[in-house]
Amino acid sequence: MALRQTPFRSPRPDSYLPIPKPIHRGRARGLQLPPGPRSLILTLNFQKDTPGFLRQVRDEFGQIASFFLGRELFIAAFDPAMVNEVTVSKQKSFIKGVGFERMRKVLGTGLLTNEEPIHLRHRRLMQAPFHINRISGYARTMLDLTKKHIENWKVGSHVEVGPEMMSLTFDIVADILFGTDIKSDTKAVQESMHIAIDRIERTMLPGLEITDQIPLPYFKRFESAADRLHQIARRIVDERIKAGINRDDLLGLLLEARTNDGEKLTESEISDETLTLILSGHETTANVLTWTFAYLDQRPDLWRALTQEAAEILSQSESQDFAKILFTAPIVGSIFNEVLRLAPPVWVAPRRAVEDVLIGGIQIPKGAHVLISQYVTHRDSRYFTSPDSFLPERWGNDFEKTLPDGAYFPFGAGTRKCLGDQFALLEGRIIILEIARRFKLQLVDDFPKAQPRATYRPKGPVTMKVNGAQV
Ligand code: HEM
Repeated sequence: MALRQTPFRSPRPDSYLPIPKPIHRGRARGLQLPPGPRSLILTLNFQKDTPGFLRQVRDEFGQIASFFLGRELFIAAFDPAMVNEVTVSKQKSFIKGVGFERMRKVLGTGLLTNEEPIHLRHRRLMQAPFHINRISGYARTMLDLTKKHIENWKVGSHVEVGPEMMSLTFDIVADILFGTDIKSDTKAVQESMHIAIDRIERTMLPGLEITDQIPLPYFKRFESAADRLHQIARRIVDERIKAGINRDDLLGLLLEARTNDGEKLTESEISDETLTLILSGHETTANVLTWTFAYLDQRPDLWRALTQEAAEILSQSESQDFAKILFTAPIVGSIFNEVLRLAPPVWVAPRRAVEDVLIGGIQIPKGAHVLISQYVTHRDSRYFTSPDSFLPERWGNDFEKTLPDGAYFPFGAGTRKCLGDQFALLEGRIIILEIARRFKLQLVDDFPKAQPRATYRPKGPVTMKVNGAQV
């Protein structure tokens, strides 16, 4: 039987650099590796709490450390200067690392999983709708959708903030980027996304993509969820083409986009980009918003200040400069920055060295897995005093400008930097302000524990009591 050309079954594109051979323990002998833990219980600790494990490695072994997982060499680099080398100045020495091959089975050749030369070609074609001038035009729609979403919240009732934020950010990305085309598929997309994300994210151990061929229901469901998403995305694109509608949203732009020499994206590339944006455009923002309301529960003084700011800023929602006003609102801005520091939705960026490269003056051999971690570097006490405390105040007086490159990178950096950073910053501010204008949320249970997968998400639904806003 011929292989189906779904992303799940598609081979790695020929134009990508080949994945180099891993460095197994045997091959590593004789290499000058940075220090690091070598014990056998390591894998268990890594699996149990990967961010905590990485932090402990930094604390015990320093800013660059090595260890073996699944017998393969990993180098973790934490110092801001090293982060900058991996993401910016020496980024050509790396491809995306562990976990991304599995993600490609769902997202195909979309921006997040793509490698050069395809990645940059798509990125150039897709930049326009994410330009700050265009993003600003989305502010009103983001506000209207937020209002509609919370109109059923009743004072005195309980809301599950996690799922609420997930469906709100999904509606926003679907509406703004793909118009109405996607509305009837919301449930199917969310269900399949849930299964796919769970399988992609469950673990970062290398080589697990091989297990996806095992004919057990757990793995079969992964393939059928990926295929279903692929079919929905293909149908959305086909229907738009057949209907001949020229809409000014991202899908419209992707269909029209041409490079300077007139080249365009194929339908299958457009459908992969559609899925990529749905996935990367809502889960991350939803998680950071859920953490925001949990953290704010510790700071009633901040809630009060936020409520006042909300009244002031949102009264200007009809202004031409509404987005600009939102971007300069100090309280919500500091809160969002601080939550992105402590609970960065993308908390680790796995890479693979495709050539020997010096990072922090240490020779990293071709084939090594390299990890940089927002979670760990954002907790460096040289730059963030009381690094575990939620202190939005620290972001006053242009604090961010005083940080060295690579010390704070919730959206990554270099050519793989988040395409939707301004979109997320605007959306986050609007949702926090509109909720704070109307309500005050209060945690019903203890502060949520983290359940880090590919995104740093809170465990459980994070139930909160809805109180009326108090100024
Ligand atoms: C608070 C919310 C968000 C955070 C913290 C975040 C963070 C990130 C990070 C760290 C990366 C780089 C990953 C890597 O280097 O391996 C990334 C990539 C990306 N993000 Fe976001 N993101 C957020 C929201 C969004 C939104 C709203 C969109 C779209 C609407 C989006 C679209 C993308 C895309 C397309 C990429 C791949 C870019 C490329 O490789 O060219 N993200 N994001």
